[in-house]
Amino acid sequence: MKIFKDKHTLQKEILKTKGISFVPTMGGLHEGHISLIKQSKKTKLKTLVSIFVNPKQFNKKSDFKSYPRNTKKDIKQLKKLKINYLYIPTFKDIYGFKPKKKVFLDKFSKKLCGKFRKGHFEGVLSVVNRFIEIIKPRYIFLGKKDYQQIYLIKKHIKIRNIRSKIIECKTIREKNGIACSSRNSNLNKNQMKIASNIFYYLSNIKKKIKNNHSLFNVNKIKKNLINLGASKIDYLEIYNVKSFKKIKRPSKKFNLFFAYYIKNTRLIDNI
Ligand code: PAF
Repeated sequence: MKIFKDKHTLQKEILKTKGISFVPTMGGLHEGHISLIKQSKKTKLKTLVSIFVNPKQFNKKSDFKSYPRNTKKDIKQLKKLKINYLYIPTFKDIYGFKPKKKVFLDKFSKKLCGKFRKGHFEGVLSVVNRFIEIIKPRYIFLGKKDYQQIYLIKKHIKIRNIRSKIIECKTIREKNGIACSSRNSNLNKNQMKIASNIFYYLSNIKKKIKNNHSLFNVNKIKKNLINLGASKIDYLEIYNVKSFKKIKRPSKKFNLFFAYYIKNTRLIDNI
């Protein structure tokens, strides 16, 4: 595994290859990332993983500061997985140039997480656009836990005629049901239990409302989430996962999207 901290040396190396399968991360690697990497390795192209905690996608300084970082452990894990390249850029390496393509931010960026984390998706799109320009990946592997992120990156790629293909990968879950996330490492045992109870409660709700969306009583469900131990709920909404339109009539292709806090830890998921 070759490690790069500078885009020019990285570009020199990857230009020689037949193409790159890219797994962007903010570190704090977990089973979800490992699954993305394993899928990337199946493409037969060289796999490049990046670790960059992108300050521009955090709307609160305190959240950026407390975001789990464990680069030493991450590097060990990546070596074991036998990836080809690891890119750990500095802020200047990413933001010290003007990208050729402008970010396209679909209006859906204002919904769900975008409503509660001002500037978050601008930050995500900005860094992904820059990574694409530096790496020119054939494939980019992303997890469906961040479904809104995938949707917005795909829109940007389509509108800006970018040739990279997004590979959507299923959400990997802990044994207790909750979606793998770097943020889980900020939860203690009791908080993990709360997150697990919330996951099972909402999974049951989803089953119940499948044939009758009118059973979806947001206020009542939110109250129950607080009773289960959530400190605050940002949103709980049902959307068609293809069109990203709010559901009016019963349909099979909907997901329950939610974001909530346990103390200071913000968790998102869709089921
Ligand atoms: O999903 C993430 O970890 C980040 O949003 C990403 C795609 C690496 C951009 O910083």
